[in-house]
Amino acid sequence: MIVTIDGPAGAGKSTIARQLADTLGFHFLDTGAMYRAITLGAIRKQIDFDDKEQLISYARNSTIDWHNDRILLNDGDVTQEIRSPVVTDSIKYVADVKEIREALSEQQRRIAQTQNIVTEGRDQGTDVFPNAGCKIFLTASPAERAQRRHQQLAELGRPIPVEQILEAQNRRDAEDRQRPQGALRPAEDAVIIHSDGLTFEAVVQKILIIFQEKKKKQQAQAYQQ
Ligand code: DC
Repeated sequence: MIVTIDGPAGAGKSTIARQLADTLGFHFLDTGAMYRAITLGAIRKQIDFDDKEQLISYARNSTIDWHNDRILLNDGDVTQEIRSPVVTDSIKYVADVKEIREALSEQQRRIAQTQNIVTEGRDQGTDVFPNAGCKIFLTASPAERAQRRHQQLAELGRPIPVEQILEAQNRRDAEDRQRPQGALRPAEDAVIIHSDGLTFEAVVQKILIIFQEKKKKQQAQAYQQ
């Protein structure tokens, strides 16, 4: 079974999807990390972001793998570096390119062919897995998302004013929503969860209940056929 969790940056998708995958014994797929890895690789190779052909060729010829919780780009560990601000600020140059999205979507579908997965991103329930058995759109208000991020960074010893975080977040939201392909939006059959005021654990519990209902429905349908 495929569980998709889409939503804007800072909604807690990764933590929640990871916890859900652990609980269900499913594979966890962080598709944002794939876009991040290709962006980092392009920066390292000094590919001009306006040179679409080179970008596409680089993405098609790169391999992205996971070893436990580490992400490998062409066999090199990029787990930390893909989270750097310079990568975050440049992702749109990669994520807006249709051919790169197709190449990464293809890899995502291949991963899901052989195993049960919880996958998180922006386009998983809409474009990549339109037939997924359980689709969640996880969101929270911009203020709450920025506040959570502020707290996370402060705990890491990097206190950044919440206004500054909110401004960058608004910019990313706009980019994610206006993307020509794979734009951030809920699938028609997704369950929308607003996580304001909810703990991660409470959201995971909510999703588990939705998952069990969807699974029952799928089993009943399979029985009827
Ligand atoms: O989830 P994240 O913040 O790590 O994702 C980084 C960026 O990658 C996000 O701003 C948009 C892009 N992305 C995408 O276009 N499609 C996905 N399925 C996942 C991420």
